[in-house]
Amino acid sequence: MKDNYTTRRDFVKNTSIIAGGLMTAPLLGRSNFFSGADNVIKVALVGCGGRGTGAAMQALLTKQNVKLVAMADAFRDRLDSCYNQLNADDLTEATGVKGNIKNRIDVPEERKFVGFDAYKKAIPLADVVILTTPPGFRPIHFEEAINMNKHVFMEKPVATDPVGIKKVLETAEQAKAKKLNVVVGLQRHFQNSYRELYKRKDLIGDITSAQAWWDNDGVWVNKRKYNQTEMEYQMRNWYYFVWLCGDHICEQHIHNIDVINWFKGGHPVKAQGMGGRQVRKGKDHGEIFDHHYVEFQYADGSVLNSQCRHIPGTMSKVDELLCGTKGKIQCGAANIVDMKGKVLFQYDTKAENNPYQTEHDELFAAIAKGQYKFSDAEMSASSTMTAILGRMVTYSGQVIEWEQAINSGLDLHPKVYDWNAMPPVVPNEDGYYPIATPGVTKYV
Ligand SMILES: NC(=O)c1ccc[n+]([C@@H]2O[C@H](COP(=O)([O-])OP(=O)(O)OC[C@H]3O[C@@H](n4cnc5c(N)ncnc54)[C@H](O)[C@@H]3O)[C@@H](O)[C@H]2O)c1
Repeated sequence: MKDNYTTRRDFVKNTSIIAGGLMTAPLLGRSNFFSGADNVIKVALVGCGGRGTGAAMQALLTKQNVKLVAMADAFRDRLDSCYNQLNADDLTEATGVKGNIKNRIDVPEERKFVGFDAYKKAIPLADVVILTTPPGFRPIHFEEAINMNKHVFMEKPVATDPVGIKKVLETAEQAKAKKLNVVVGLQRHFQNSYRELYKRKDLIGDITSAQAWWDNDGVWVNKRKYNQTEMEYQMRNWYYFVWLCGDHICEQHIHNIDVINWFKGGHPVKAQGMGGRQVRKGKDHGEIFDHHYVEFQYADGSVLNSQCRHIPGTMSKVDELLCGTKGKIQCGAANIVDMKGKVLFQYDTKAENNPYQTEHDELFAAIAKGQYKFSDAEMSASSTMTAILGRMVTYSGQVIEWEQAINSGLDLHPKVYDWNAMPPVVPNEDGYYPIATPGVTKYV
């Protein structure tokens, strides 16, 4: 499955697994081990879109005895399209791997679930749950999976508002207490070049500033169809609604912000910034901005200048740079240089892996061995919250502290999930949605 998202380098297939940066691995108790008497690790997929299809393929391509046993999606057509892609005769084009995974798919009609409650029916049937819906649903789906004692692979971001972040943090504690493995699709943590740079980060001394970019043309639009309810329309065109997507600073730029938090070893303490929408102004562009620029400040006074833009015809750049007292880490170039530009370390990109596959290789290997190795939810919640803080400052135009933001009680979600229920934001009589105005919009 080709992901919608541009990456900086073409990944070459490499199955080597690097243990650096992983937790030590205590063995799991019986209740955490996968339940299949025949040693089959059963998987349920919740959110059968582009990424869900890719993640399911990657799970089924691992060396373990994995079977997809249940699928859940809000929409039947999305579920069917995913099911058909997974059952393709040949996956070469989608995955680079010859052959197919048909014998690993066991999802009869009675284990295909559709609608807002579909996740509740699919999750109990599995040992491992893949959560790949739009991020607005992640907190409730993650909570359900951990309540049901399942290991989890979930995509980033892990929420769209601070109330969702708090739920994810509480659930992360539960997952730890139950020793349930949780991997989050911030795949740079599973990418060989980033892991090698991270191991050598002390070569640049103390990190004093950083830059992060996700600048490109933007993503798909699903136009309104005449017979849709407002809820169905927003669910189909989810990228453009903050309760579902979080805005593109949260949805995509999180990858770059997360790298800086990872190398800094924590999240910023405050932020200020600016943003708006200059080009993406149509009725089908919902309420999100097309550019954000944020200055995040960490507790030690160091600053991250972060920018993301979705405007066709402008410079494309997806990258991170960290500057220290002795040199720089240039993630895109996969190298570390001193103050004069002399290369101190250059990663050999021939050894680069496909981190999307490695995430699943490592997760399923741990589960099969009965190991507890991954607890990514907390770190991912922190990076998601950093992106949400960025959005709060660009929408409001104010300086906002981390504690204010996370404790703001901002909850963007509807009280009821139903096709006829009103979503939290609705268009005016001309079909346009309210847009945040810095200086006027309050951050809560
Ligand atoms: N790590 C990466 O590089 C990467 C790449 C692509 C996408 N993603 C992430 O994956 C997630 C999904 O993105 P996508 O591109 O696959 O979107 P998509 O629209 O292709 O798929 C989302 C699917 O979820 C379904 N869905 C929506 N609400 C649901 C609900 N309440 N219950 C069940 N199903 C529901 C939709 O109908 C759709 O089929 C996003 O969080 C995105 O950020 C990550």
